[in-house]
Amino acid sequence: MPVITTIDDLKRIYRRRVPKMFYDYCESGSWTEQTFRENTSDFDQIRLRQRVAVDMDGRTTASQMIGDDVAMPVALAPVGMTGMQHADGEILACRAAQKFGVPYTLSTMSICSIEDVAENVEKPFWFQLYAIKDEDYLRRVIERAKAAKCSALVITLDLQILGQRHKDLKNGLSAPPKMTVPTMLNLATKWGWGLEMLQTKRRFFGNIVGHAKGVSDPSSLMSWTAENFDPTLNWDKIAKIKEMWGGKVILKGVLDVEDARMAAKVGADAIVVSNHGGRQLDGALSSIRMLRPIVDEVGDQVEIHLDSGIRSGQDVLKAVAMGAKGVWIGRAYIYGLGAMGEKGVTRALEVIHKELDVSMALCGRKDANTLDREVLLVPEGFEGRWQA
Ligand SMILES: Cc1cc2nc3c(=O)[nH]c(=O)nc-3n(C[C@H](O)[C@H](O)[C@H](O)COP(=O)(O)O)c2cc1C
Repeated sequence: MPVITTIDDLKRIYRRRVPKMFYDYCESGSWTEQTFRENTSDFDQIRLRQRVAVDMDGRTTASQMIGDDVAMPVALAPVGMTGMQHADGEILACRAAQKFGVPYTLSTMSICSIEDVAENVEKPFWFQLYAIKDEDYLRRVIERAKAAKCSALVITLDLQILGQRHKDLKNGLSAPPKMTVPTMLNLATKWGWGLEMLQTKRRFFGNIVGHAKGVSDPSSLMSWTAENFDPTLNWDKIAKIKEMWGGKVILKGVLDVEDARMAAKVGADAIVVSNHGGRQLDGALSSIRMLRPIVDEVGDQVEIHLDSGIRSGQDVLKAVAMGAKGVWIGRAYIYGLGAMGEKGVTRALEVIHKELDVSMALCGRKDANTLDREVLLVPEGFEGRWQA
């Protein structure tokens, strides 16, 4: 096993192992990818305050997210088509998360179905819902998530229509991949991935095929999204979905102070400050820039999480110190999964955990729950002086 010390190490192995179509699907932002790039580069602008002569014995990263105990304040974000990054990907990622002691979120657009994941893991997981036009499907999928004992419903708000990622169109992204000449040539170099994929039956959108009606091409994420996602989603509908669910609800994809106010009013258990990893509105500000204004506005009313751009434990520390109760990672664990399956996800979590623990200590803190803005050096005007 190669020595893996960073998330980037996993990304390099991932890139070699997984077909181009799925690597590109993961490693893209929408249009010019400005927001995608700034999600990570804006974290780099924040620096940390080194402190010395502070007792750093007996440190802990343990915390809570929506009242659940977590080994560190990090959850695995919902990622569509995870089962195409590695055979049985959703089950493997969920197992790694549960063994590590952090939450896993299953996407509506997963390859393994809700029931399949529930049968193959030990503990409840969170389920992410896209608002779908077909009310019958919406009700049934919520009932299925309840029956599978999912412990929170994550409603994604920033994808009523799909942001354009050029490479997905050029590559003809689908699950399973369609056998065009370029795809076949590429797959010939990815035999490890292919052999594992041949041994699993999980190669289709498990929550859709056999569950949804009137899908013109059930293998295409693009056509399914365009035909079925509800473009009329509004706060009343969100409140209704929340009522249908009846359990804990997390609203994901809030990037604006006014929307954060509305989300708090609806009574969400948490909101995720997120721009979908730079995959939706290109030109939107990075999540880390929007975190402080949102925390200052509604931090006393609703638990606030952040995602988009987390690639290290230091990024976790920065977001938590700025006021997030926890963060979610997307690509960081997908790199691990694509590189080496469950072990790779575990490695990604270990890398992040170690970076968080050591950075915390060198900032003079022993407990992740005591991180606050005092440990950060944020450049003046970090949030920017933008005018509406
Ligand atoms: C390949 C890919 C697929 C995604 N699919 C979904 C999805 O199905 N549902 C959802 O709510 N978010 C989805 N997201 C967004 C993630 O949940 C998360 O917001 C994002 O990855 C965070 O940014 P990061 O990758 O920089 O950590 C996806 C992200 C990626 C990279």
